[in-house]
Amino acid sequence: MTILVTGASGNTGRRVVDRLVAAGRRVRAMTRDPQSVPPRVGVEVVRGDFRRPETWPAVLDGVERIYLFPFVEVDGEPGGGFVDLAVGAGVRRFVVHSAAAAGFESADAPDDPQISALRRHLAEERSAHRAVERMVEASGAEWTHVRPGLLAVGALNWADRIRSRQVVRAPYASAGFPWVHEADVADVAAAALLGDGHLGAAHTLTGPAKVSQAEQVAAIGAAIGLDLRFEELTPEQARDQWLADGYDRGTADWLIELLAAAVDGPDLLPPTDTYQRITGRPARTFAQWAVDHADDFRPTARTGGVA
Ligand SMILES: NC(=O)c1ccc[n+]([C@@H]2O[C@H](COP(=O)([O-])OP(=O)(O)OC[C@H]3O[C@@H](n4cnc5c(N)ncnc54)[C@H](OP(=O)(O)O)[C@@H]3O)[C@@H](O)[C@H]2O)c1
Repeated sequence: MTILVTGASGNTGRRVVDRLVAAGRRVRAMTRDPQSVPPRVGVEVVRGDFRRPETWPAVLDGVERIYLFPFVEVDGEPGGGFVDLAVGAGVRRFVVHSAAAAGFESADAPDDPQISALRRHLAEERSAHRAVERMVEASGAEWTHVRPGLLAVGALNWADRIRSRQVVRAPYASAGFPWVHEADVADVAAAALLGDGHLGAAHTLTGPAKVSQAEQVAAIGAAIGLDLRFEELTPEQARDQWLADGYDRGTADWLIELLAAAVDGPDLLPPTDTYQRITGRPARTFAQWAVDHADDFRPTARTGGVA
């Protein structure tokens, strides 16, 4: 049985490939750039692009199960016929890399100009990810949704400033979330691809506990053996910084609102015990994530060029 991993060069997808290979499965890795997936025994790397339907038949040939990267993010709109074509080609199971937002209850319409930037973002995320989930649910194939909360890899946005200046400048030092390690997402996705105990389930995954931004910076400092500074900005200073970094105004505003809402309750995204229930092991901590990514933060000659 061949298992197709889409997004196979990504943070999560490449770890899904590792777990399937370790389980002795035949894996097809889809990427737009075959050079980005290292060659290895048991993995057939195939060029494929969600935006180019002419690449899909070769990608799907002989595949029975799929780890489906959230192509809503790359395509701007769901669909494009990939799921239907896959089922027609013989695919019997999808494991959808979705997002916790898909499980949020909300009556907000993404295009309502009256709602806040944060609520608009959540409504957009929810409807985009649910659209892919629904498509898979309606396909007649087996399905499992893996819905990560905020990914710890978001902290890589700090890497340039940590490498060059050993500082993080952001608003709301005490704002935090139960950041989820991408390795946990990959573990659960692989379990759902390989075993039969997850059919029809939607698994919302988080890290084990809320970790504030100041604690994240301390954990990264401990992982690389340096005292890092957290410089707290006012929301206005943060907006100016992010606009100078190239973010658009809407993104800067929702980030500010997201962090303001995460200083204390009510929590948008409380920790779940899903990972522990599924694997029997505690979810990886942010401190573990920082150790796993220490090389991304160590000062090097590369300074990143940000102020
Ligand atoms: N950020 C968060 O906190 C958060 C929370 C919940 C869910 N999510 C979801 O998780 C995703 C990020 O996961 P990640 O960090 O594992 O991914 P990632 O490292 O950002 O990888 C992106 C992947 O998308 C693939 N891709 C991009 N455009 C493509 C196209 N046109 N056709 C086919 N493949 C394409 C890339 O493959 P190639 O470049 O090799 O083609 C790459 O493997 C987000 O997209 C979001 O929907 C994020």
